[in-house]
Amino acid sequence: MNFLINVNEITSEIKKRCTFAIISHPDAGKTTITEKLLYLGDVIRTVGVVKPKKNKKHTQSDWMDIEKKRGISVSTSVLSFSYKNKLINLLDTPGHSDFSEDTYRILSAVDFCLMVIDASKGVESCTQKLLQVAKKKGIPIITFINKIDKDFKNVFLLLDELEKELNMLLSPITYPIEYDNNIIGLYHFQNQKAYWYHNTKSLIYKKKQFLLNTFEKNNLIFTQEDNIKTQFFWKKKINHIQKSYINFQYKDFLLLDVNPVFFGSALDNFGIVFLLNFLVKFGPIPQPKMAYTRKIFPNELKFSGFVFKIQANMNLKHRDRIAFIRVVSGKYFKGIKLFHVRTKKKFSINNAISLLANNRTVLETAYPGDIIGIYNHGNIRIGDSFTESEDIQFSGINNIIPEIFKSVHLINPLHQKRLLKGIFQLEEEGAIQVFKKLNTNEVIIGALGILQFDVVSERLKVEYQIELIYKNVEIHTIRWIFSKNKIRYNDFINDNKDFIGIDNEKNAVYFVPNIIHLNIISEQNLDIFFLKKKKI
Ligand code: G4P
Repeated sequence: MNFLINVNEITSEIKKRCTFAIISHPDAGKTTITEKLLYLGDVIRTVGVVKPKKNKKHTQSDWMDIEKKRGISVSTSVLSFSYKNKLINLLDTPGHSDFSEDTYRILSAVDFCLMVIDASKGVESCTQKLLQVAKKKGIPIITFINKIDKDFKNVFLLLDELEKELNMLLSPITYPIEYDNNIIGLYHFQNQKAYWYHNTKSLIYKKKQFLLNTFEKNNLIFTQEDNIKTQFFWKKKINHIQKSYINFQYKDFLLLDVNPVFFGSALDNFGIVFLLNFLVKFGPIPQPKMAYTRKIFPNELKFSGFVFKIQANMNLKHRDRIAFIRVVSGKYFKGIKLFHVRTKKKFSINNAISLLANNRTVLETAYPGDIIGIYNHGNIRIGDSFTESEDIQFSGINNIIPEIFKSVHLINPLHQKRLLKGIFQLEEEGAIQVFKKLNTNEVIIGALGILQFDVVSERLKVEYQIELIYKNVEIHTIRWIFSKNKIRYNDFINDNKDFIGIDNEKNAVYFVPNIIHLNIISEQNLDIFFLKKKKI
């Protein structure tokens, strides 16, 4: 095999890729849309409606036990499939009201995101939170307004609300056509055609019959005399809508000035194909990523990438851990010698894999935008960079401060060693942070959302046969402690043992009970720095 890479090869491979995540509030329809996208991409052949809550079938992306039991996505899977000569890498974000650090990191590893909104509910709290992160990271957003088959808010009001929440101009690409208080089709502004609702459900099937008799398919010509009024109404309305919103321009979309909007019903697979066609045509190709020292461009010939996720125990029999790397530049090929920047070690990689939920394929090559999984024997951490030789550290992946803290207590105290092994392995995945209290050796877990605590206890039970209970602790936030003066640093730690913990890299952290306390202690110890991030 020829491992040499030239600019033409890499430029053409970059153009073929689109890497994105779906963000939504729970129940907006993310799983159902994912399933329909996989169906259109020929990854799955049947679309049984996925209802994990009721213990029926599970989607390719819902594979952990806790996910199955609760019907939510806790972990993040990577789904890759081809459609119209594009390779789509879809990163599934956890869809529950809690956030894990995982969710934030996923948004560092994608080039745009698809925001799914339930038409009857509008922009909900989780979507808002994710939206802010996506905007902060400069990631373009495409909106899909789902469940138009159900009763939903007035379309104009919904779009008004969306425009305010997003603080962006909207550009509807499709728009629902109503008739007799029902949505009977979609108008596609770019195709300049109307598409009638095709559905096999008996109730709507009748509606379809009615429509096919009444209207001509695929355009806005209404054929029956008594519908002349409706025809005029819709022609005028489409004109009016077109004037009320901005025309889609690719460069405005990239600059986050405009948000393309689609409508549809994931359940009925209506409107999804327009979305997918748009994603492959306008979804931004792999973009440059910021490192602390410089911007890395995808068409650079040397390989670079960063670890945004580690998943432990994907295969319980082998207790293996996979590090997920987003390829930023260059080309991965079997046997490539990579430089692990943090440990300054070089090693050959022969068995990088691509994953579709828990199915694995050994990769021959990978290009910018792709997600590769490499086996991790405990030496790889989230945020680590891999290059061919350059010392690069990508920004925006680590440094998230947990918001909820609890102490961990074993039901069987003899399992302490096993607990520490298990919990530190789960920490590597990045959804929790673990600290040991300096004076008592008590284990403290910090996470962004309460659900992570349930995930940890469930996984420790299943994967390590450990049962535990949590207790509340008086920790509001944490700060990493640092000082140039070693003696003062040691004295400070000795004098404040009750408030000090140690993280997995043996850095000292200060457990802050409240902000007033933090202000006082910082004023009293001006030579001690209380940092929001670990020193790199
Ligand atoms: P999520 O991953 O965002 O959490 O949502 P998911 O796809 O699981 O969908 C949540 C519920 O909404 C599911 O119903 C699903 O069938 C339904 N749903 C998804 N898309 C549509 C749509 O376009 N129209 C309608 N009417 N329903 C849709 P479920 O599992 O039966 O839950 P529930 O209805 O019993 O709560």
